Amino acid sequence: MYLGEKLIKREPFRWGIVGGGKTSQVGYKHRLGAMRDNTSFLLTAAAFDVDAERCREFGVSLGMDADRCYPDYKTMFEEEAKREDGIEVVDVATPNFLHYEVTKAALEAGLHVICEKPLFFEAEQGEEIKKLAEEKGKIVAVTYGFSGFDMLKQMRAMVTSGKLGKINMIELRYAHGFGCDPEGDVKSEGQKWRVNPAKVGKAFVLGDLSTHTYYMSQLICPDQKLKEVLCDRQAFVGSRYPLEDNAYVLMHYEDGAVGRMWCSCVNAGDMSSQHIRIVGSKASLEWNDARPDVVKYQIQGQPEQLLYRGLDYLDASAQEDERIGALHYTGLIDSWSNLYKRFAVVMDAKDRGDEETVKNVIYPDLDHGIDGIKWINACAESADKGAVWVQV
Ligand code: NAI
Repeated sequence: MYLGEKLIKREPFRWGIVGGGKTSQVGYKHRLGAMRDNTSFLLTAAAFDVDAERCREFGVSLGMDADRCYPDYKTMFEEEAKREDGIEVVDVATPNFLHYEVTKAALEAGLHVICEKPLFFEAEQGEEIKKLAEEKGKIVAVTYGFSGFDMLKQMRAMVTSGKLGKINMIELRYAHGFGCDPEGDVKSEGQKWRVNPAKVGKAFVLGDLSTHTYYMSQLICPDQKLKEVLCDRQAFVGSRYPLEDNAYVLMHYEDGAVGRMWCSCVNAGDMSSQHIRIVGSKASLEWNDARPDVVKYQIQGQPEQLLYRGLDYLDASAQEDERIGALHYTGLIDSWSNLYKRFAVVMDAKDRGDEETVKNVIYPDLDHGIDGIKWINACAESADKGAVWVQV
């Protein structure tokens, strides 16, 4: 059981943020995730916003030093590099089109990076950043924010230990209805860039939503290698073309397993957004983010079981992040806190040259970020060619 004790034998990382300002959807999740335990990250500097004054006001309202609330990320990296107590790690929580340039500048400034999804637009950019991160000896982690839930590790342990038999089918879904109203595309700052190909990339919901669920399927089934996808995408709100607000994807894995993904923001009225069902030759597992503490375990020919978080029958890997006891329900911020805890451990290990720990920590790393880019681009290519199979 983890009770918030210090896991790294050093002072908290001095941590900066680019984006994630007062009006952003995701900024508070980063701050809550990073600072929940108050032992690993210290919010030190920020370039929170496109609006310099709003950045400063917001930083001060959070108790930050006004001089360390910068008008833009370049100034922040430059000024912080001059200080002995300058930042050591930076979050990139801006709209997608800025992820690559900010990540690159951060690595060049000698910082670890925690970047939002989808990572970049092109896999080649990912490979270039990977080379740079290796040269600089720094970590690039990706905030697939739902992937820190304990029960996902339980599913991974059951899949990899063969409890399900051979994995045959992977059923994935991230489909909500919050994009039904076209007015949102004009009124909401956070939505405007999401429907602009220059700012969001080649896809809307395939990048915004399905990359989360796709990564979680990789986390649960680390040995399943995706071979090809066939994607059909459409925009039911027509102004979103050539982007999609709904997509169906069929998947073929290298070992013969098959899968499906439905991602949508026009699934009107549905409030249980993400579903993952892993079907093996002997048994299946099912998880849904509306009830993240429970996994359904169904063995063919036997009554189905519900596995609950925080209990002794779970795998040790699923208990190591357990904080509050069974039946005391967790939520999304627990997932983010678990991720940030792992980021701190892996960054500290990297700085100490402990490559064994770096290799063994389970977290969304740069390779997973690159897989997410490949997933989006293969799906978009498939759909644009008329729903044909495309190698990933
Ligand atoms: P948003 O549009 O609500 O907020 C963007 C923030 O970035 C604003 O504070 C804005 O002022 C700031 N910003 C824009 N340009 C900037 C610049 N040049 N320098 C500094 N700050 C700048 O966007 P939202 O929804 O917060 O998304 C941001 C990123 O987070 C996206 O990549 C998105 O895909 C991702 N996201 C991830 C989630 C997760 O669960 N991991 C959830 C929501 C978003």
